[in-house]
Amino acid sequence: MKQWTVLLLVMVLFVGSCQNSNSAKSTVHNGKVSDAQNEEELKSQAQLIVQFSSQALLGKLQKSIGEQGIAGAVDFCKLEADAITDSLSLAFGVDIKRISSKNRNPNNAPNSEEKKYLDQFESEGELALPILVKTEDRFTYFAPIRLAGGLCLNCHGKLDESMTLEQFEHIKEMYPEDKATGYSLGDLRGMWKITYN
Ligand code: HEC
Repeated sequence: MKQWTVLLLVMVLFVGSCQNSNSAKSTVHNGKVSDAQNEEELKSQAQLIVQFSSQALLGKLQKSIGEQGIAGAVDFCKLEADAITDSLSLAFGVDIKRISSKNRNPNNAPNSEEKKYLDQFESEGELALPILVKTEDRFTYFAPIRLAGGLCLNCHGKLDESMTLEQFEHIKEMYPEDKATGYSLGDLRGMWKITYN
């Protein structure tokens, strides 16, 4: 617990300026105040883990684009994205995943339960908020990922609008099964899934 407190403090200092004020909603209603408090704490932790992980990935992506351009950054993501989320999972002691119905990495395709939450976020549109789900043996946190900036469209946008033919073809070459183009700003790109085991 002490470790967590130190870690959270570091995270708050690190991502403090980028926090958004969205409060997560919970699907758990069992009426017990202490349980509800624990769940609130868990939600806050998960929210910080998501913010930290987003910043970590974005930081590496921006550095890679700066050093190697868009095509080089695609190669970097293919090599490193999974490794980065795996090492963050290890550091935080939770399982961290990014999942999308229109996935690029085949590992990020949803199972039927995950698809349910993606569909829910999609149907709620801009009002979609993160959810903490309690099952018999674990808590899982789901948070929507939106295409918030023009940067994302370089690799997830539309051919001839935000992606050149060269960029588009390079991605299709690296990911023959790719479904992750054709997006516009503000679209739901997928979701974070944080599992407490
Ligand atoms: C330089 C190109 C590039 C840019 C810019 C980029 N992405 Fe990606 N994105 C990728 C690649 C490549 C993958 C697949 C990584 C892998 O193999 O795990 C990916 C995967 C993802 C995934 C995981 C789901 C999936 O489809 O596999 C999400 C979510 C995502 N990107 C969101 C974003 C968002 C949001 C932005 C803007 C902040 C962004 N991306 C910017 C190239 C990019």
